[in-house]
Amino acid sequence: MQEFVARPEHGIAWISGASSGIGRALALKLAEEGYKVAVTARDHEKLAELQAEASDLSGSIIVLDGDVTNAEDMEHVLASIEYEHGALALAVFNAGVYLPVHAEELRLSDFEQSFAVNLQGVVNCLIPAVRHMKAKGQGQIAVVSSVSGYGGLPTGAAYGATKAALINMAESLKFDLDKMGIRIQLINPGFVDTPATKKNEFPMPSLVSVEAAARQISAGLKSQSFEITFPKRFTYMMKLVNLLPYGLYFWLVNRSTGWRQRPLQKQARPAMPHPAE
Ligand SMILES: NC(=O)c1ccc[n+]([C@@H]2O[C@H](COP(=O)([O-])OP(=O)(O)OC[C@H]3O[C@@H](n4cnc5c(N)ncnc54)[C@H](OP(=O)(O)O)[C@@H]3O)[C@@H](O)[C@H]2O)c1
Repeated sequence: MQEFVARPEHGIAWISGASSGIGRALALKLAEEGYKVAVTARDHEKLAELQAEASDLSGSIIVLDGDVTNAEDMEHVLASIEYEHGALALAVFNAGVYLPVHAEELRLSDFEQSFAVNLQGVVNCLIPAVRHMKAKGQGQIAVVSSVSGYGGLPTGAAYGATKAALINMAESLKFDLDKMGIRIQLINPGFVDTPATKKNEFPMPSLVSVEAAARQISAGLKSQSFEITFPKRFTYMMKLVNLLPYGLYFWLVNRSTGWRQRPLQKQARPAMPHPAE
C-alpha cells in the first residue's frame, strides 16, 4: 500500500526547533518547494529572520513561537495552525539539545533538560498533532532522532538515551498510526554541521552541511521509507557496529574514538546541591 505523502496542497507543514540548524534549513527547503511552513522555537527574532529570508520563495513561513517542554504552548501552536492557517499535513518534531555527560561529574540538570526537550518535547507535540490528523483522516509525522540512538556512545548517556527512546516510540506508534491513515517516519542523521555540533571536541566523521541534510530529509519525506538516514555509508556502518557482540562493540568504539586514552575531566564542575539539602 502507498504511504501518504504530504504535498503543499494538503495543508501546513510544522517544524519544531526551526530557529537554527537542521530545522531552519529544512523550513527553507520546504518553503522553496511551495509548502506553507509553521516554525516553532523559543527565539522569536531568529524565527522572524527566517520568515524574512523566505519571503521570495514560492511557499511561506508562519512564525509560531513556543517551548516544546510546555504542553500548553504546543496545544496553542496546533490551535493556531488549525484555526488560522488550515489543516496540519506534515509535522517534523526536530527540536533537541545535546548535553554531553561525563560519568565522573554527573549532573541531574543535564538529564532533566535532555529528557524534557528531546523526549517529553516530542510527546507534547505528538499528542495534539495526532488528535488533529486523526480528525482529518490523514497526515504525516517525522520524528528527528539520531544514529546516537542505535547504541551507547561516549558522552551520550542523556542524549543517546532520549534518541533511543524516540526510535522505539516511533516504531511502536507505527502499528496503530498505519491503521489511522497517519504516516510516521524516523529521521536518523549522522553528523550535521550545526550550532549544536560546533561545540563537539572530537572529530566528526562524514560530517554533512545543513543544506545537504535538508535535501536528504526533504527527499526522504517524499519516499516510501520508514527511516530517513544519511549519510548512508556512515549510518549503515553504525547500524552494523551495533549488531556486534558487546565485547567487540565496546572495543571498537573505544578504539575508533580514542576514548580509552582520553583522561577523565580534570576539573569537576561544582556539584548541584541535592534537592533535600
Ligand atoms: N547536528 C547533528 O549532527 C545531529 C545529528 C543527529 C540528530 N540531530 C538532531 O537534529 C535536531 C536538530 O539539531 P541541530 O543540530 O539542528 O541543533 P541546533 O542548531 O542547536 O537547533 C536546535 C533547535 O531546537 C530548538 N529548541 C531547543 N530547545 C527547545 C525548546 N525547549 N523548545 C523549542 N525549541 C527548542 C532550538 O531553538 P530555540 O533555542 O530558539 O528554542 C533550535 O531551533 C535535534 O533533535 C538533534 O538531536 C542532530
